[in-house]
Amino acid sequence: MKLLFIDSCIRGPKSRTKILCDHFINKFTAKNPDWQIERVSINDLEIEAFDLKSLEERNELLAKKDFSDKSFDLAKQLMESDQIVLGAPYWDLSFPAKLKAYLEQCSVTGLTYIYNEMGIPEGQCRAKALTYITTSGGPIGDMNYGYDYIKGLCKLFGIEKTYFASAEMLDVIGVDVQQAIEDAKVKITEIVEAL
Ligand SMILES: Cc1cc2nc3c(=O)[nH]c(=O)nc-3n(C[C@H](O)[C@H](O)[C@H](O)COP(=O)(O)O)c2cc1C
Repeated sequence: MKLLFIDSCIRGPKSRTKILCDHFINKFTAKNPDWQIERVSINDLEIEAFDLKSLEERNELLAKKDFSDKSFDLAKQLMESDQIVLGAPYWDLSFPAKLKAYLEQCSVTGLTYIYNEMGIPEGQCRAKALTYITTSGGPIGDMNYGYDYIKGLCKLFGIEKTYFASAEMLDVIGVDVQQAIEDAKVKITEIVEAL
């Protein structure tokens, strides 16, 4: 069984979101010692948002149903995961743009989802759940557009459950950042127990 860690913590070792992701993975590994943990680092990926040329190239492959090209490797990796944890800082009311470029690579008709004879999309991913972890400078409130979008994508991909954990207000002067992180860790521990 495999847990996929989608590491979109752009600030790497300075990232507070990464601290929470590491906590998730520590708890998860303690509970499931026989699981394989696979990490995909958004920082390390040589991907860009689709443009006319790259989209046409991909459309040609899709028309031939030729999924052997390495450009489909990320979609296959996602499809073949049994659990997913996605860590991304709260940027501009959502998440970093490079994560969107990654999700474009993963969203493939014929792989991550198919259309049935009625034209209804059917998700093809086997992951039971995706846990979304973020931290923010201020409050997120009802402007949780990154997580809302991920929830929609999970529905399309056939991932039935999503969980959310955050540490918020981390850039507000006077806020006890360490306490906010500890509180988020408690929530994350509960999520791992529920998985
Ligand atoms: C490019 C950028 C955009 C941001 N946009 C927001 C925002 O819209 N709302 C907010 O509350 N904080 C925003 N922040 C602050 C981050 O959410 C906050 O510092 C977060 O903890 C960063 O996560 P990290 O430590 O994992 O990098 C932004 C930070 C950056 C660098």
